[in-house]
Amino acid sequence: MANQNLSSAKRAKNDEFYTQFIDIEREMQAYLDYDPKTFKGKVVYCNCDDPYESNFFRFFVLNFKKLGLKRLITTSYKPSTLANTQLALLGDDSTLPPFKGRPKVNANKFIINKVHDINGDGEFNLKDVAEELKANKVNKWAPLEEGGDFRSEECIELLQQADIVVTNPPFSLFREYVKQLIDHGKNL
Ligand SMILES: C[S@@+](CC[C@H](N)C(=O)[O-])C[C@H]1O[C@@H](n2cnc3c(N)ncnc32)[C@H](O)[C@@H]1O
Repeated sequence: MANQNLSSAKRAKNDEFYTQFIDIEREMQAYLDYDPKTFKGKVVYCNCDDPYESNFFRFFVLNFKKLGLKRLITTSYKPSTLANTQLALLGDDSTLPPFKGRPKVNANKFIINKVHDINGDGEFNLKDVAEELKANKVNKWAPLEEGGDFRSEECIELLQQADIVVTNPPFSLFREYVKQLIDHGKNL
């Protein structure tokens, strides 16, 4: 029994950690070394990623133009024990516009269609991402109705729009996660 408890604790722990930005950068660079057009014109979906905290979101939104992405979709998971604990999309920079309306207990989705230097300060960065999302027009954010489980209907609908799915999924659901990708014809 004790062993069983330990195993579930370990599984839960493995499910709840964030991938480092540098590791994502290295991994994506390996794909780009193989084919510089890997992401060109593609819809990328990160389906186990709180967009407020995920380095996958951060990497893809900051490299959106460079990679030539068509769209970036990111969804979070409501029961995540990580939410609001580790990273913050906009860090602790108090000069950044407050992200009013963040649904703390809900899962949410971000859909990025376009990025640009919206505030005209001469560079594109997360401040611009925040501004654009606040406007909720070209780029959109919204709470998810079904909690953000990658198996939920609304997440599967988003999955069907995606050319490439990139994330670090929950370890305990790895088989199910991979099976879903195969069932929906996504390359591994
Ligand atoms: C290993 S963590 C990685 C988080 C993020 N993908 C990253 O790499 O930084 C796995 C994430 O999947 C979330 N998660 C767990 N079960 C899920 C499910 N059924 N559907 C979607 N996400 C889930 C967890 O809350 C956790 O945030």
